[in-house]
Amino acid sequence: MSQDAKYIPALRFKFLTPLYDPVLRRGMREQTVKNRLIHEAGLTPNARVLDLGCGTGTLTILVKQSQPTADVVGFDGDAQVLDIARAKARQHGVNITLEQGMAYQLPYPNNSFDRVFSSLVLHHLTTQDRARALSEVKRVLKPGGEFWVIDFGKPHNPLAFLVSRVMRNLERTKDLIDGLLPDQLQRAGFPRVEVVARFMTLFGTIVLYRARGADTNPDLC
Ligand SMILES: C[S@@+](CC[C@H](N)C(=O)[O-])C[C@H]1O[C@@H](n2cnc3c(N)ncnc32)[C@H](O)[C@@H]1O
Repeated sequence: MSQDAKYIPALRFKFLTPLYDPVLRRGMREQTVKNRLIHEAGLTPNARVLDLGCGTGTLTILVKQSQPTADVVGFDGDAQVLDIARAKARQHGVNITLEQGMAYQLPYPNNSFDRVFSSLVLHHLTTQDRARALSEVKRVLKPGGEFWVIDFGKPHNPLAFLVSRVMRNLERTKDLIDGLLPDQLQRAGFPRVEVVARFMTLFGTIVLYRARGADTNPDLC
């Protein structure tokens, strides 16, 4: 499935995939950022959670460890990265479902998940595929469900601005570094988008977003 010419694997080139975990750990403050997402996302014990573009499964496993009775699904387009995720899940003794497919064509019925998480995936998609993927996320979320995104965002300090001059030319980060994601989320049916946190990393500003539909109760925020 990841034979698509437009497809960008975890570290851009397939031969670099085995290096993905060490690069992310050191360069992206991975534990800090992913644990913050889990802390903020308000997972309940019976939640159904989709980790869209789960890669090597680090977040998927953390979610399951934080709520062992939750039903947690990791989904990615790349068979090689899913093999790594399966091995890590076995090693950690967690029972998660890992499935292969494209983010813009999800094999799940409407209203399937309480939460969808997407960590560092949306900058791998073309603007058009990102719009399709966001609509798919809206479709598979239950009414009142929430979409949580970790990805590049507008630089929030001078150093991040300098780093962004390089990063905006890599992969498909430009829209996100230009701060266009909230508009794209709104167009996909998420009128309520918040920046929950910003993180300075070696690769520049990483933003944690929460996106909700009009069907969420503002009194519960
Ligand atoms: C930078 S990695 C992020 C992995 C993981 N979410 C994390 O935070 O470590 C991006 C992932 O998105 C996946 N991906 C890229 N394009 C995709 C698509 N069209 N459909 C599904 N997954 C995709 C890649 O295979 C890769 O595993």
